[in-house]
Amino acid sequence: MKILVTGGLGFIGSHTVVELQNEGFEVVIIDDLSNSTIDVLDGIIAITNKKPEFHQIDLKDKSKVSNFFKSNKIDGVIHFAASKAVGESVNEPLKYYENNITTLIYLLQEMQKNKMNNLIFSSSCTVYGQADELPITEKAPIKKAESPYGNTKQMGEEIIEDTTKVSKLNAIALRYFNPIGGHDSVLIGELPIGVPQNLIPYVTQTAAGIRECLSVFGDDYDTPDGTAVRDYIHVVDLAKAHIIAMKRLLSKNNKSQMEFFNIGTGKGSSVLDVIKAFEEANNQKLNYKIEPRRVGDITVAYADTTLANNELGWQSELTLQDSLRSAWLWQQKQ
Ligand code: UFG
Repeated sequence: MKILVTGGLGFIGSHTVVELQNEGFEVVIIDDLSNSTIDVLDGIIAITNKKPEFHQIDLKDKSKVSNFFKSNKIDGVIHFAASKAVGESVNEPLKYYENNITTLIYLLQEMQKNKMNNLIFSSSCTVYGQADELPITEKAPIKKAESPYGNTKQMGEEIIEDTTKVSKLNAIALRYFNPIGGHDSVLIGELPIGVPQNLIPYVTQTAAGIRECLSVFGDDYDTPDGTAVRDYIHVVDLAKAHIIAMKRLLSKNNKSQMEFFNIGTGKGSSVLDVIKAFEEANNQKLNYKIEPRRVGDITVAYADTTLANNELGWQSELTLQDSLRSAWLWQQKQ
């Protein structure tokens, strides 16, 4: 079985390619290298002893996408390729709508034209905003998006769902909580460009002395220690969810043409919990200070993963400490 992975050299994409190849799938990657480097391919080859096919294509280039589909027989598509910086999306909304929505439409058009009907879509818990009830189930209402990035995930799900209603497309949207960590081999990991916006790369760069001090954004939230709570999921656990979801589509075990699953650990950790776990897991002292809240942040988000556990037979296996250990090893290697 041949699987197309768009954005296959990115953070979650590369870990998913490794798991796919370990499971015996043939993989073809499309990536434009806008937020990754070709070295990631070497990491994948070193881990799996297998070279995935690679095409440097920008999905906005409609004719190249069309040519690719004409000359490749694909059994399933896992679509990661997208821009993902929340803050940047506020300043450059059109870039986000073009990169994340136009490309999805081209991809769906080509899949339809070439009768390719299995799609896994990279979605996000951001579609829930600040949910009224915790843990968050898939039934929680979709609230107005806080950012153009979040909106592209909501719209992406809707575009796919509308397409399933008028075609043979079968799709699964995986709504990720906060993916962190890296592969055990330390050959692939997260590669933020510039000053990290996300917590874990900022933590590891602070421990490495690249950043002077970690800012904890807000300690006056309505949470046990006042700092915001998230569900941090190891990227390898997350990658495995994609393989299970793809097998579900390939074996036609899906219950409807469009399904949604939360992918998280089910456990909430505050920013201070993360700092403490990092210090304990790696025997490091972290320099941090409390700063005002970051605009646009929600207070608490953690997943109810019952549906993924029962329907997909998937559950997270690695702990927050495992994630923070692998993130630190990766940072040291950089
Ligand atoms: N945080 C800090 N200091 C930092 C960075 C982050 O205290 O330097 C805090 C944030 O305020 C937040 C928590 O750490 O409370 C996690 O922040 P991240 O930026 O790591 O993650 P977010 O939850 O804000 O964002 C993630 C993904 C997005 C997704 C969003 C959905 O990065 O892609 O979840 O809520 F849209």
